[in-house]
Amino acid sequence: MFPVTRPRRLRRSAALRDMVRETRLAPTDFVYPFFVRNGKGVRSEIGAMPEQFHLSPDTLVEEAGAAIEDGVRAFLLFGIPDKKDERGSEAWDDGAAVQTSVRELKRTFPEALVITDICLCEYTSHGHCGVVHDRKVLNDPTLELLAKTALSHAKAGADLVAPSDMMDGRVGAIRTALDGEGFEDVAILSYAAKYASAFYGPFREAAGSAPQFGDRRSYQMDPGNADEALREVALDLDEGADIVMVKPALAYLDVVRRVKEAFGVPVAAYNVSGEYSMLLAAAQRGWIDRERAILETLTAIKRAGASIILTYHAREAARLLR
Ligand code: PBG
Repeated sequence: MFPVTRPRRLRRSAALRDMVRETRLAPTDFVYPFFVRNGKGVRSEIGAMPEQFHLSPDTLVEEAGAAIEDGVRAFLLFGIPDKKDERGSEAWDDGAAVQTSVRELKRTFPEALVITDICLCEYTSHGHCGVVHDRKVLNDPTLELLAKTALSHAKAGADLVAPSDMMDGRVGAIRTALDGEGFEDVAILSYAAKYASAFYGPFREAAGSAPQFGDRRSYQMDPGNADEALREVALDLDEGADIVMVKPALAYLDVVRRVKEAFGVPVAAYNVSGEYSMLLAAAQRGWIDRERAILETLTAIKRAGASIILTYHAREAARLLR
């Protein structure tokens, strides 16, 4: 008790504070997401996500190379298709932007970890994450398409595939498809507890994936639920997920903590587009200190229990940690 106990004693100097710090960020915690399209020399800034770009495979290799110099080692790829259709068939086209980019990245940087997002919403004309019939998103017929997509990414050289569609049973379907073709070493990072969130707004502009009718509440989770997140995670682990993710991160740090405590498996959290753009917008207005806010945000996500953080701040944060 005071005056014997004085917590401030350990805050007196940077050396002391560093010595007793419980949570430390490292560039190896981060996964850097990129949006890729076919073409050459593409580098167009995304309106709702300042300083993030649509890239073609060649400019992606440049950007990834620069991030690798700064210490980032893992990348997540989203594809912008040349054409959309009802079923999203470009998703499993071996010549599509993601597949080409994976091949280029792995050829240039064999040590880099390349993760691909598995979903149909960027590729479908209606913008939903699965097959649509009578304005309903059908679960089971979607599984085969997701599995084909994962297989095509694995063939291109992806180290991990990350299903983000929230169809039931997709982890198992993807695992079976991968194992059936000799890709038993390709890992699955499942978006296990993915909420129907307003914070994906900027991403939908970036990926051109806003639903053309309705919303995603019949497949993504209700923000009020956390017990359900544990059930979702348990199902995905049973089906063969290697890493489970909670998404978004900031409004769901309690869920990150509960998943970590309940399962003790590698937990990832996605610091999503809306979280990124809010921070940048406030910093641009001079309302918050950009660099401190980035590091504080990422530290909070790690402190909550995520050892892997998917973030558009990855390169800047890695540089700040140098
Ligand atoms: C695709 C997908 C989304 C995000 C990742 N994968 C959007 C969505 O579900 O609408 C969001 C990522 C972000 O906001 O940064 N289903």
